[in-house]
Formats: sequence, C-alpha cells, structure tokens
Amino acid sequence: MVNKPSEQSIDHPLTIALSKGRILDNTLPLLAHAGLLPVEDVNTTRKLMVDGPVVDGTPVRFLIIRAADVCTYVEQGAADIGIVGRDILLEHRPHVYEPLDLKIGVCRLCVCGPKALVEKGNPREGSRIRVATKYDHLAEEHFLKHGVQAEIIHLYGSMELAPLVGMADRIVDVVETGNTLRANGLVEETTLYDISSRLIANPASYATKKSLIQTMIEK
Ligand code: PRP
Repeated sequence: MVNKPSEQSIDHPLTIALSKGRILDNTLPLLAHAGLLPVEDVNTTRKLMVDGPVVDGTPVRFLIIRAADVCTYVEQGAADIGIVGRDILLEHRPHVYEPLDLKIGVCRLCVCGPKALVEKGNPREGSRIRVATKYDHLAEEHFLKHGVQAEIIHLYGSMELAPLVGMADRIVDVVETGNTLRANGLVEETTLYDISSRLIANPASYATKKSLIQTMIEK
C-alpha cells in the first residue's frame, strides 16, 4: 500500500542499499513488481541516494553503491536492508539477517585457469600457485583445504586478464554465461559455491521495522 508519510515517519525513512552493476539490472524488475521503483533512473543519475515511493506511511530511499559496500551500510545501520550477491556475503561475513533468497543474479563462484594448465589437473598438494581474485578469504580457504599454498593477488575486477599476462595461475571469480572466460582462453576448474542475490537486513532495523520489511518481502 503506497500513501503519504506521517510527520514522524519522514524522519525515519526505510533505506535500501542496492548493488551497482549486473545485480541492479536484475533488481529493478523486482522493485517494479513490488511497486517500489526509485523516482529517478538509477542507471543514469549521478545521485547516490535516490527517493522511492511511500509505503504504509514510510518514505523509501535507495543508496546506489558497490556490492561489497552494501554489507557495510547494512551492518552499520546506515541502510535498513540491502540486496547483495551470496558471493559477497560469503567473503565478507557481515553481521546481518538474510531473510530471503531473491533468486536473481544466479551464477557460480569458481576456480578458473588457462585451458592448458587446467587440463593438467588440480594443483598438487604442497604446490605453490598465484591466484588473482577479489575473494581473498574464500580463495585462501579453498586452497588451504587442499594443501596448496596460494599467493593471493587481490584485484578489484577483470580478473580474467591476470593469467593472460602471466600474473596468476588461477583466478577465483563468479561465472554466469562463461563468455568472459571463453573470450580470454580460460576454463572452469572447480565450482566453489552456487550464487544468487539475497535480501539482507540490519538486525536492529529488522526488529523495529519488521512488519514493513515483511510487507515488502511478501510483495
Ligand atoms: C563479472 C565477473 C566475470 C563476468 C562473468 O564481471 O567478474 O568477469 O562477470 O560473467 P559471464 O560468465 O557471463 O561472462 P563484471 O562484468 O561484473 O565486472 P568485473 O570483472 O569488473 O567484476
């Protein structure tokens, strides 16, 4: 139900943190379906905080931020809820509630490498490899479990480039269609996790705004 805010609720908007990029493209149809679209086109505006509709007397506003920062804003209570990939949640392990799998942004987190290297088999126990990734903890955990010493080379994106220029032996990254891997001569070696986007909530916000958040979830 969309209506006018009371004076009290104007001071207490419901703040929703949205991940920029491909998750945002998948999120907008969901928001439209729930009658929660931002009032401006978030793909073109340079504003980072955009108004939304008024739901049950509470104005909604959106923060448009990097996926990894969604966890921080929600954890700190600067956003009440957020939408973020499971890959980011597994890597950063924020203290947030995760009430809903939105089943969008479906992909997988994989170890990948140059075809010729991967065909030789998984790195042997006791071997040393260089791994380019933005998932430092998950990559380290995976290789440690298999007795492989991984030197983690932290990158912020375009990981597929690292093996091409001889900077890494493997990458750990999300794969959706596999097009980026194919275009760069890489193949999947191991799937670490199935990924989809999740609704997350700050625990205090979830307690105080539970009925509003539940209303939105049910939509
Ligand atoms: C993501 C990911 C891969 C690519 C996988 O990158 O890091 O590079 O998508 O998708 P595909 O399997 O459908 O090709 P994104 O475009 O989000 O940018 P990034 O590399 O800067 O993270």
